[in-house]
Amino acid sequence: MKILIVEDDIILGELLQECLQRLEHEWVRVCHTGVEACTVIDEEAFDCAFVDLRLPDTDGLRLLVSIKKKDPGLPVVMMSGYPTMDHTIDAMRKGASDFLTKPFTLQDVALTLQRVTKEKALLLQNLSLQLECQARKELEKVNRELESKISEQAKLFHISKEIDEIRSSEDLYPCIVQLASTLESVDKVSFFIVPQDKGSLLRMASCGWSPEESRPQRIMLDGDRMREVLGNGRSHVLIRTDEIQEGYAPVDPGMDRMLSCWPLRIRGEPFGILMAYHKADYGALSSGETRLFDFLIRKASLAVENMALYESLISNFYAILKSLVNALEAKDLYTGKHSERVTLYATEVARKLGCTGAQIESVQTIGYLHDIGKIGVQDSILNKPGSLTREEYEVVKKHPVIGESIVSELGLSPEERSIIRHHHERWDGGGYPDGLVAEGIPLLARIVSVVDAFDAMTSKRAYREAMSEEESIAELERNRGKQFDPSALDAFVELVKKNRARG
Ligand SMILES: [Fe+2]
Repeated sequence: MKILIVEDDIILGELLQECLQRLEHEWVRVCHTGVEACTVIDEEAFDCAFVDLRLPDTDGLRLLVSIKKKDPGLPVVMMSGYPTMDHTIDAMRKGASDFLTKPFTLQDVALTLQRVTKEKALLLQNLSLQLECQARKELEKVNRELESKISEQAKLFHISKEIDEIRSSEDLYPCIVQLASTLESVDKVSFFIVPQDKGSLLRMASCGWSPEESRPQRIMLDGDRMREVLGNGRSHVLIRTDEIQEGYAPVDPGMDRMLSCWPLRIRGEPFGILMAYHKADYGALSSGETRLFDFLIRKASLAVENMALYESLISNFYAILKSLVNALEAKDLYTGKHSERVTLYATEVARKLGCTGAQIESVQTIGYLHDIGKIGVQDSILNKPGSLTREEYEVVKKHPVIGESIVSELGLSPEERSIIRHHHERWDGGGYPDGLVAEGIPLLARIVSVVDAFDAMTSKRAYREAMSEEESIAELERNRGKQFDPSALDAFVELVKKNRARG
């Protein structure tokens, strides 16, 4: 062992050194002052120190404290010729390992060293366990942080994915409230649109509310609060239930709950507010949940902006296509407004046949464009006063395919595209462009086919007079199950008859 002796009595110091060397501890260093001992400890590592309680330049207990600061694991044995109980207790409190009373024998020194060695081994073991324990705690903490980050990233990904899949604003609002209600600290969520006058808020979607709970369609906020919530400065504002007029409140009597209001802005202008009730035992939101809400709101804002942009582009495109149809029909003195009439009647037939809302909407939008492909057919053929040659007819037959390619960038559904491509198919398979048969022809195309034929027959042409409604219907009936779908035809004929009866 490497041992340090701090003893001002030179003879005693040498005697102890000799004792220790006899016990086969070759490396024994003797210092006579506290200052010298501190310097030596800074330079060398020892396994044990013997320190006299009284030193010329310092108190032995002070030196003990200094040694323990420098090397907490170094066992220190205090030595004194006149130890008192107070000295002994004080020394032990300050970290001394043992107390040796002068004069001592070789055996006393040997026993003390044995105890100190054992104590040091235990101390080292204890220290090692403490370090291991601390390391484990650190690891557990890092793991918890990592798990929380992974969970947050997964939630961010989920929010992002869900909103990216939304295609219309009607689906977006329920999606926002549903996503917000999955966050841990909130349970009832609603989304409101901010009208132009900013006087009240209009509820668009809610999640987590029971039927008994008060949820009016319109709510009011105090003017100052409204300005605060809609202001540009903060991501969200906390308000109390009683600050909302019109009793927008959950049923939990006696519970003073908080709401967080998250404004959704489009290009800096307030567009809507997401209101989330905090669960009864949750006060403020955690920083992690605040980040998730912020992300959800930012993502929803972008989605609304993109949808508005897309819808505006599409509606502009429709407007252009409609003007083209109008221009096309304006050239024909006889069939003007053909597409408008076909759309009106086809919509009625679709309703009568029990089509879905989406199908009816498709007929209303795309019915108008069913002949858009005629843009690609020469005017000389379209407006030819007499009957067409075989070659000319082949050119006209291309208009459904040309029409479909014109609208190919509009993102139409297959059923919508079918109105343009297949409105000249025949029930018996003899139509064009694909020769589809019976129910192989999409329903909306079968409906437009009947109405289109009827409108053509009842319109005057350069080479013939307009047929009467009775004659036209008779002609349609003759082609029932040949050219036309019987059920679409029956529905249409019934409609025409009803309209005529009404006068
Ligand atoms: Fe056509």
